[in-house]
Amino acid sequence: MSRSSDPEEGTGTTPTLAGELDDEAVLLAGHGSRREKSNEQVRTLAAALEERLGVPVDAGFLELAEPSIPEAIAGLAASVSQVTVVHLSLFAASHVKNDVPLAINRARSRHDIEINNGSHLGIHPALVDLLDDRAETVEADLGVDREDDDVAAVLCARGSSDPDANADVHKLARLLDEGREFTSVHPTFIGVTEPTLDETLHTVAKQRPDAVVVLPYMLGDGVLTGRIRDGADDFDAEYPYVDAAAGDPLGTDSRLLDVLGDRWQAARTDSVEMSCDTCKYKVELDGYEEDVGGARAMLRALNHQAEHADRENVDDDPHVHDAPEKHVAVCTNQTCAADGAPAVLERLRQAERDSEACDARITRSSCLGRCGEGPIVAVYPDGVWYGDLDPDDADSIVSSHLDRDRIVSELVDQTL
Ligand code: FES
Repeated sequence: MSRSSDPEEGTGTTPTLAGELDDEAVLLAGHGSRREKSNEQVRTLAAALEERLGVPVDAGFLELAEPSIPEAIAGLAASVSQVTVVHLSLFAASHVKNDVPLAINRARSRHDIEINNGSHLGIHPALVDLLDDRAETVEADLGVDREDDDVAAVLCARGSSDPDANADVHKLARLLDEGREFTSVHPTFIGVTEPTLDETLHTVAKQRPDAVVVLPYMLGDGVLTGRIRDGADDFDAEYPYVDAAAGDPLGTDSRLLDVLGDRWQAARTDSVEMSCDTCKYKVELDGYEEDVGGARAMLRALNHQAEHADRENVDDDPHVHDAPEKHVAVCTNQTCAADGAPAVLERLRQAERDSEACDARITRSSCLGRCGEGPIVAVYPDGVWYGDLDPDDADSIVSSHLDRDRIVSELVDQTL
């Protein structure tokens, strides 16, 4: 089941005509976290996906981080006429089914561009492959080998109030089991639903395997992954006759790009497939009868959005979105892109995040009419254009111009 990381293979239907992609971009929609490291991971994946697909890819967040999804779409709408939203979500639950589509619908009413909505990461052979590798790493650390020893695997996901999402965890566990030499593979959850990790580990102990490999099915290394690791360590201490340890989360593994590329291609060609047959909003599942029709979900999503709108009026809330002091437009059109504009854009954004003094909004722009002199960066309202930039110049623009209002004269292309 091994998959190539070759871009053409990873996104099986990657367009062959470069011209087809000139006028479109991708928004990678992440959840957002108070841990900046998790947000950085989304941005890292966005940058890698941009390189893989050959189209501009920006990161946007549902909550707790900036830019928000509407802000990110607005930024992209200035330079392209088609944006495809790709969800960096493992399973389809309320954010994928309600919150992001609501944000997209609002954006559609505000911008005269085509906005495609993609699906979540879901079940994909590249992800099974990735889990297999994570398991092998833990086995090597424990000094066991599934071909010679009894090794059980426990796949631990977050847990959801959507049965469809939980069922996908079971399917993933089964796919990991098929054709491999594990003694057994068990799906489990760290919260919201059952069986819990603790329950599953105690059940597995009764089979007396030589080792238990716990696989956190999480994107980032956050609080829940820490809990899974603690659970594995506690189990290891409690059962001296079974070795146990937890592996790493999915992180920024390149196989995620294979899946995101496929999801992008499906969305931009109008061939997204969602599991409507078992969606609690479409069919009456026992215990979820009140969810059919989606009215409750819509209300919850609207409340969620309203809460964020309210917070924008509260001082010292992390979601405050006052108009920034400066707007920085980075031309990412063809010629500037070929001259290195994406790296300059990334560096500007990174330096802006690292700076305590900088209050700027940094977006892409379409051609600024200085082709061949780029990458071109325009700073407003000052009307200062910088040209022929490299990524190190981005640091100077932030530390000097944006932080202290001192124009970096040696980089100026023109002033308006
Ligand atoms: S492509 Fe950047 S100015 Fe034309």
